[in-house]
Amino acid sequence: MSDLVFTTKTGAPESHKTSCLVVAMSKTKSLPVALENLDSALGGALTRVIKSKDFSGDTKQIVSLAATDQFPRLILLGLGENPVQAPKTRQAVATLWSAASKTKAKDLVIDFSAANIEAGCDVAQIVAQEITTGTYSYTRTVSNPKPGSSIKKVTLLVADKNEIASTKAALLSGQAIGTGINYARELANLPGNICTPTYLADQATELANTYSSISATSLGEAEMRELGMNSLLSVSAGSDQEAKLIIMQYKGNSATDTQHCLVGKGITFDTGGISLKPGAKMDEMKFDMGGAASVFGTLQALALLNAKVNVVGIVAAAENMPSGSATKPGDVVTSMAGLTIEILNTDAEGRLVLCDALTYAERFSPLSVVDIATLTGACVVALGHHATGLYANNDTLAAELIAAGEQTGDRAWRMPLWDEYQSQLDSPFADMGNIGGPAAGSVTAACFLSRFTKAYSWAHLDIAGSAWNSAPKGATGRPVALLTQYLTKQP
Ligand code: BES
Ligand code: MN
Ligand code: ZN
Repeated sequence: MSDLVFTTKTGAPESHKTSCLVVAMSKTKSLPVALENLDSALGGALTRVIKSKDFSGDTKQIVSLAATDQFPRLILLGLGENPVQAPKTRQAVATLWSAASKTKAKDLVIDFSAANIEAGCDVAQIVAQEITTGTYSYTRTVSNPKPGSSIKKVTLLVADKNEIASTKAALLSGQAIGTGINYARELANLPGNICTPTYLADQATELANTYSSISATSLGEAEMRELGMNSLLSVSAGSDQEAKLIIMQYKGNSATDTQHCLVGKGITFDTGGISLKPGAKMDEMKFDMGGAASVFGTLQALALLNAKVNVVGIVAAAENMPSGSATKPGDVVTSMAGLTIEILNTDAEGRLVLCDALTYAERFSPLSVVDIATLTGACVVALGHHATGLYANNDTLAAELIAAGEQTGDRAWRMPLWDEYQSQLDSPFADMGNIGGPAAGSVTAACFLSRFTKAYSWAHLDIAGSAWNSAPKGATGRPVALLTQYLTKQP
C-alpha cells in the first residue's frame, strides 16, 4: 500500500490542529452557514474572499490563505455547480493535491461540510484514490527525480461518529485502488528494454511472494507449443525475447471454488513486425502491455482489500519484432482452439496472442472473463481518450462493467458485436483472417476475439485510447479502478 496515511475524524474544521486545512465548497456567492465559525476564527477572511469574488467555488478553483497558529495554511477548494457530481469532485481533489503537495505542509485536514455533493458520490473513496494516484511519479530510469511531497497524513472530516467506520472503509478502498493504479502505471511506463515478457513473469512471482492470497506460474514457449498456442507464438517468432503466458491466482473467497478471469494483452513492444509501423510515436508502443499492467494492478488492489472473490489473471506476454524468423503476411497458423488464421497483417498481433489466452481460460470454468487490451487505433478514432471501448456477449456483464466504470470515474462505452460484422474476417485460405478491413476496425477486432469466447460469459475492453496519455506522456493505470470495483461486487 502507498505510505500516505488516510484517516477520518469528526468535529468542526476550526477545531483541528493541522499544517493545512482544506475547505471544499460548491459554487457560492455567500458564506455557507457551515463555515460561519471558521470565518469568525479567521476574523471574517472567508466572507471577504467570497464577497470580493476572489473565490466563487468554480471547479478546480484554489485560493490559499495564510491562516492561524492552529492551521497556518488554509486552502479553499472549488467544486463547481450544485449538486456536485463525482467527475468534478475527482478533478477538484486531483487539483488540490497538485497544489498542496508542493507546499511544506506535513498533513492535510479536509472538510466537505459546506459542499453539496450528489447522492451516490463517495467523497472518501475519491479523496483517497485521487490523492494516492497523485503521489505517483516515474523515477526508475531518471537520475535526479523530484522529491515527493512532505505530506504524510490526510484526514477527512465527517459530520457524525456513525460515519467513521464506513468512511474508513471507503478511504481504504480508494487507497487500495490507487495503489493498484500506480503499480499498473509503473509497469506500463517502464521502457521495452526493461519490461520484457520475462520481466512481467518475474513481477508475477514477486506479487505472489508479497501477498499470501496470490499464487503465480508462467509458461514458456516450449510449454505453449505443447498446448498448440501457435497463434500466440507467431507473434514472438521474430523476437529474441521469449514469450510468456503468465497465470496468477487471487484467492479471496475460500467458501467457493468459482472464479473470474482477467486476460491482459501484454505486448511489451509492438513494432508491427513485418507489417512495420511508421516511426512517429512508435516509442508509445511500449504501452502495448497496458492491458497486462491492469491485470497486475487489479490483483494487487484485490489483495490489499482482501476482496471476497476468486480471480485468475492471465497475461499473454510477447514482443512483436521483424526479423528473418518473423511471421509474414499470408502465413497461416492453427490456434489452440483448432481454428486456422491467415495473418494478413502482423501488426494486428494483439488478437493473435489473446485468442490463445482466451482458449486457455476455459480450463478455469470461469463465471466471467474480461480481456483488457490496447487493441486498435480504430478505437481511439471512435471514442477518443475518455472512454474505454466495451464489447460483451452477455448484457448483464456489460451492464455491471459500465456501472463499475461510472462509480470509479473509469468509464467504458458499449460497442456493437453484431453478426453482420463477422464476414469482414472471411479468408479464402483459412477459417478467418486477422484483419477486417478499414471499416469498424475496433468492432472487427472484437469479432475476431468473440470466436474464441463462446464457452463463457465474456467482455472485451479496448483501452487503446484510455491506457496512456501522450502529453505529458505516461500510463493512466486504467482500467484498474473499473475492474477492481466490478470484481469486489462479484460472488
Ligand atoms: N497496439 C496496436 C493498437 C494501437 C495503435 C493502440 C495505436 C494505440 C495506439 C495494435 O497492435 C495495432 O497495431 N493495431 C492495428 C490493427 C490493424 C493492423 C488492423 C491498428 O490499430 O492499426
Ligand atoms: Mn500492432
Ligand atoms: Zn499492439
